[in-house]
Amino acid sequence: MTSKEFIDTNKDNFINELLDLLRIPSVSADSKFKDDVRRAADFIKSSLETAGADKAEICETAGHPIVYGEKIVDPSLPTVLVYGHYDVQPADPYELWDSPPFEPVLKDEKIYARGACDDKGQMYMHIKAFEAMSKTNSLACNVKFMIEGEEEVGSDNLGIFVKENKEKLSADVILISDTSIISNEAPSITVGLRGLSYLQVEATGPNRDLHSGVYGGAVANPINELCKMIASLVDDNGKITVPGFYDKVAELTEAERKALNEAPFDFEDYKSDLDIEDIKGESGYTTLERVGIRPTLDVNGIWGGYTGEGAKTVLPSKAYAKISMRLVPSQVSEEITNLFTSHFKSVAPKSIKVKVTPHHGGEPAVTPTDSKAYQAASKAFEEAWGKTPIPTRDGGSIPIVSLFKDELGLDTVLMGFGLDSDAIHSPNEHYGLFNYMKGIETITLFHKHFAESTE
Ligand code: BES
Ligand code: MN
Ligand code: MN
Repeated sequence: MTSKEFIDTNKDNFINELLDLLRIPSVSADSKFKDDVRRAADFIKSSLETAGADKAEICETAGHPIVYGEKIVDPSLPTVLVYGHYDVQPADPYELWDSPPFEPVLKDEKIYARGACDDKGQMYMHIKAFEAMSKTNSLACNVKFMIEGEEEVGSDNLGIFVKENKEKLSADVILISDTSIISNEAPSITVGLRGLSYLQVEATGPNRDLHSGVYGGAVANPINELCKMIASLVDDNGKITVPGFYDKVAELTEAERKALNEAPFDFEDYKSDLDIEDIKGESGYTTLERVGIRPTLDVNGIWGGYTGEGAKTVLPSKAYAKISMRLVPSQVSEEITNLFTSHFKSVAPKSIKVKVTPHHGGEPAVTPTDSKAYQAASKAFEEAWGKTPIPTRDGGSIPIVSLFKDELGLDTVLMGFGLDSDAIHSPNEHYGLFNYMKGIETITLFHKHFAESTE
């Protein structure tokens, strides 16, 4: 049996096993789900064993465990290190889901569940591709798996694990499916990811909540002031006003920008998918550039005062916001966090005290297109999808990619199969069965072409 035949024969099993994994609510951010996160790790470990790994182990960390597995077919063959994550984002708000997030359903040829695409579905494709190759004796490369449970909370412990296990993780390339393609008609390979600086700000006015009639108009309201401060961070041209913010931003050449904008993009579809009348962003850049190669500043959440039912007349003591900045080469997360912090403090009026607490960060990454590994991925897509994949820059972040380069000296191939419309991090997240099955096939072809290219 060929591995393609094995994949076709086992389609139902492959889907049902993924559904079982999706039933485990492995939300890394919420300690309430700590045991479930571990159950998901155990699930991955036994999946690796069943698929044919020589070794599969749970590696403890200060946080959620990392699952490591490997099959060394022949030390003279190239080694592919697969990275993925089994943790998921919180499913809130639950009431916006059409079916419960951890009770996966199949509808219109798609699997609906939290993590269906990001990243359980995409990560599991690698285990199934490995199983298909291993059970049909067609493994062309050695394979190592490093599947973590803290990607959605910043991968802090994975960074330590990588630094301490360089020998164990030695490989020729890193392969990750945790990004998206343009569409099923226009497959693509991600060659750039943005970095991230994420922080929380706290604005304090009076030492206690006050009656908004007795004190209103005479004492600074921290919510009003916080809103003004936040509004001042981005000007009318969509430029971020933090001094020094753009100093290290790498500008692309005209030729590079032209190539980036040649990717198919339908402006009307984009707007109608999001139900918006118009778009908004930095002047002088296209939408593809705004998400691919330009940095941003966004409020992710803002709260304070009274938000319950009805009205309560209160002038609050405190206001809070969570702010993210997406970074591009060659911005450095820690530097941007520092620039933000001093600027934010400097724009606070005397009537308000400001505290800034950094959460997590990560560096941007660009991956080469002239490597053997990229060429192998490109060939794999050509063979499975009948089209040459387009290199794209994605707006999301996978901070570990730049760390792999720095610590292990390895380039990554970002061979994702999701769609932007898969609603990752949102209610009703889903993943197409077509993408799942086609992805498994494409991964097996990557191994084949990568082995051939290094012969
Ligand atoms: N898989 C995503 C990142 C992604 C999504 C990249 C789509 C490209 C296209 C990943 O799980 C994620 O959500 N990353 C976080 C960063 C992390 C530090 C919390 C993000 O981008 O917000
Ligand atoms: Mn992900
Ligand atoms: Mn994610």
